[in-house]
Amino acid sequence: MRVAIVGMGYVGLVTAAGLAEWGHEVLGIEANPERLDVLRDGRLPIHEPGLDGLIARHLAGHRIIFAADARQISSVEVAIVAVGTHDGNGGWQTDTIRRCLDDIVPRLADDAVLVIRSTMPPEFLPSLAGLVDGLRAAAGRPPLPVMINPEFTREGTAVQDFLFPDRVVVGIVRDDFGAGARTLGTMYRSVDAPFITMPAPDAVLSKLGSNLFLATKISFANELAALCDEYGADVSAVVDAMGRDPRIGPSFLRAGVGFGGSCLPHQVTMTIHSAAQRSLDTPLLRAVDTINHGQRTAFVDRLAAALGGSVSGRRIALLGLTFKPGTDDLRDAPALSIALSLLDRGADVVAYDPMATAREATRRILPALTVADDVWSALDAADAIGLVTEWPEFVQLDWARARSVTRGAALVDGRNALDPSTITAAGFRYSSFGRMSAPLRIPLEAEHSRRRVSDGRFGAPVLRTAVD
Ligand code: UDX
Repeated sequence: MRVAIVGMGYVGLVTAAGLAEWGHEVLGIEANPERLDVLRDGRLPIHEPGLDGLIARHLAGHRIIFAADARQISSVEVAIVAVGTHDGNGGWQTDTIRRCLDDIVPRLADDAVLVIRSTMPPEFLPSLAGLVDGLRAAAGRPPLPVMINPEFTREGTAVQDFLFPDRVVVGIVRDDFGAGARTLGTMYRSVDAPFITMPAPDAVLSKLGSNLFLATKISFANELAALCDEYGADVSAVVDAMGRDPRIGPSFLRAGVGFGGSCLPHQVTMTIHSAAQRSLDTPLLRAVDTINHGQRTAFVDRLAAALGGSVSGRRIALLGLTFKPGTDDLRDAPALSIALSLLDRGADVVAYDPMATAREATRRILPALTVADDVWSALDAADAIGLVTEWPEFVQLDWARARSVTRGAALVDGRNALDPSTITAAGFRYSSFGRMSAPLRIPLEAEHSRRRVSDGRFGAPVLRTAVD
């Protein structure tokens, strides 16, 4: 089958590689000339494990070709739109999708199927069929089937997630004779997973709902961790016991600095915002968002507490910059806002990430931050260590050696990723989220030392310790 994909970002490239792997011929359209040059050179503009090998193989075998524009699109059976919908400022934008539709819709063959794979604001959906019909009519051509095909791939494991999905969701915007569903059924024939067709709003909300639920699980785990700290429990053990109940499941319950990346934070805030514009309140999502941002502050507060109350003038080694391991993506990475906050509080911060491209990008984004090129330089003479991204390199570090190069013994694990007994045996004072970080806990009997903090947005009182 001949498939065009417009937009060679994370989603488009992974989709291109996966479809080529299934034997389809892929035309990858990328308007950014620098990105296109990189791709035509056989290199990738992003880091995604396994993707480079697949793209290189299918470029060499001519199953994938890259193009700067849509001139060759008239020969494809399926055209997939995978362009960005972020406005770069925490909001949605649909200008890129609209421009892309203006360009490709009039050129598509009369038996082609148009598929939107970009994550879309739900409010864009009602105008989509009319937009496409109008462009077809203006070109003197018949209407096309228009489908939604959301992706559920995670950065770091996107290739596997694409090739072996749990489900394929296809939303129908317009498919008068069922040709759209039939064509996509053929495109996905290699997949051994449920192929679910549904009305387009259901498909958009299935994608959004999945990410909102994952975000909710993480914020729940973070609130649970606060309860564990308060009552002297270990959140890892608690979650392990809870997760064995199949109704709950163990995933996305790891407490720490909270969720980052291009999807979860953005979709939570934008859903709250879009709903509010329709006078719909989303108190659960607002709490998810508040808790998530509170975790970043809590991490900085923990470093301060571990240093006797203030980070000012102290040297802090920040381990990890990317929003999670296995990627070089810094979009909404908790490490960046944490680094900013530490710098604002007068700390001398030296950060390190195993991903060279992330280190370079951080130097551009945050010139005030010192970024070391190896972990030992970052740790050298540090008064405290803050672990923000659980790269295997950090989990497997020689922590006794680390203690021999740091000046201070404070270590705050923002991902609950390290083994507390190993770290303590290496000579550090270990603190994390919800794992009985003894040096930071207020004795239970010191009830009077707690203060009630009211979160103005909800009016609901939140208990915080005097230290945190
Ligand atoms: C997410 C969705 O998982 C994926 O299905 C969708 O297609 C795109 O958005 P991604 O952004 O790649 O994927 O990252 P994900 O693995 O979901 O992690 C998001 C953030 O949550 C990361 O910062 C991660 O560190 C954090 N996280 C994850 C936690 O804090 N705790 C957890 O238990 C799991």
